[in-house]
Amino acid sequence: MDIGLKEENVKAIGVALNGYLADLYVLVTKTKNYHWNMKGKHFYSYHKMLQGQYEALDEAVDEVAERIVMIGGVAKGTLKEFIESKTLKEEQGVPSEHEMIKKLADDNEQIVTGLRKKISLCQENHDEGSADLLIKMIQVHEKAAWMLRSSLEK
Ligand SMILES: [Fe+2]
Repeated sequence: MDIGLKEENVKAIGVALNGYLADLYVLVTKTKNYHWNMKGKHFYSYHKMLQGQYEALDEAVDEVAERIVMIGGVAKGTLKEFIESKTLKEEQGVPSEHEMIKKLADDNEQIVTGLRKKISLCQENHDEGSADLLIKMIQVHEKAAWMLRSSLEK
């Protein structure tokens, strides 16, 4: 496909998008883990909220991976590669419901901060399509962070 992107552009964007893909994968997994293992007085509402979030993230995993391939790159697709390029931390054990919500809020906020740099990088490399996808995703993560953070207020 000739869409006016040079090899060096695709390479730089591919690294940025694959990094985001790895973090998305970790976040989907953590959100599902907490959806499954949560216990406590807010169980039902948190369980429902986390389901909505991992469903949106799961769709994004597919879109980001396909975008990487669409522009001429190679999408990472093994758990080993995701673990090697993720920036989010994975926790051991089963935290309290309050801790789970806090960790997910932190992770969504960390992703938003990282996405700002990745969006600039896509624009510098003349890839408005990838920038647009990340701009949409920044809003998904901001909304998730807001909902999670608001649930922590006493
Ligand atoms: Fe479920």
